[in-house]
Amino acid sequence: MTGPGGSPRAPAPPAANLFRAMQLDVFTLIPHAFSWMTEHRPLAAVLGSELDLRLWSYRDFTPLRAGQVDDEPYGGGAGMVLRVDVVHAALEAVYSGDWSDRRVVALTPQGRPLDQELVEQLAAEERLTLLSARSEGFDERVAHHLATDAVSIGPYVLSGGELPAMVVLDAVARRLPGALREESGTVESFSAALHGGLEYPHFTRPPEFRGWRVPDVLLSGDHGRIEEWRREQSRARSSGGGLVGAR
Ligand code: ADE
Repeated sequence: MTGPGGSPRAPAPPAANLFRAMQLDVFTLIPHAFSWMTEHRPLAAVLGSELDLRLWSYRDFTPLRAGQVDDEPYGGGAGMVLRVDVVHAALEAVYSGDWSDRRVVALTPQGRPLDQELVEQLAAEERLTLLSARSEGFDERVAHHLATDAVSIGPYVLSGGELPAMVVLDAVARRLPGALREESGTVESFSAALHGGLEYPHFTRPPEFRGWRVPDVLLSGDHGRIEEWRREQSRARSSGGGLVGAR
C-alpha cells in the first residue's frame, strides 16, 4: 500500500482501535433490579461491545453506620431523602475523586422532560452516569453540585428512580450501533427521518380479521405508493395528536 508520493502509507489502525464502548454507570439502592434488562435486547446485544454497563449500590460506599443512605427531610414531611454525602462518597470512590469528564444524570420528577433529542445526546456520550433515588428523592444539593443534568421521564411520580433509570438505559442502549435488528431504529417515532413526528401505522398478517381489513395500498406491492401513504399517515398522525384507542 502506498501513499500520495509513492511512499509506503501506514496501514489504517484496526477498526477496534477507533471504537470506544460507552461506559454507563447506574447508581441505585437496588442494582439487582436491572439484571433482567441485561438478558434482553437492546442491552444484551450491546453489552461487552458497544456498552460497558456497571451497576453500583450506594450502600457499598456509604460513610454512615449500618449502611444508612437516607435521612428525614429538614423541616419535616413524609418520606426519606437520599443524602448528598452518600451520593458524593459513591461517586468519589468509583471515579477516584474526578467525574468532571462525565455526564451525570439525576433522575427526578422535577427534572427536564426526557425526549428523543435528549436520548440522542446521551447516547453520544462516552461516559454516562445515572443516579437514581428512592422515596422522596435526592437532597437538592445532588442536582446542584454533583449532577450535570436532572431528568424526568414524565409528569407523574414514581416510587423511585429505578424505573426512570431503566427507561433512560433502554432508550440510550437502543441507539448504540448493533442494538437493533436491521435499521429499525432509523425510521421510527421522533426520529430525524420522520422530522421528529410519529411513525406510520404497521400491519401484518392476516390481511383481514373479523372484517378489519389492512389498507389495500399495503397489499399492492407498489413501493412508491406505500412510501407516499406512510408519509401522509405519519404527517396526519403527528399533527392530529397521535394514535388514540377508538373502541
Ligand atoms: N422519580 C420518581 N418519579 C420520577 C419521574 N417521573 N422521572 C424521573 N425520576 C423520578
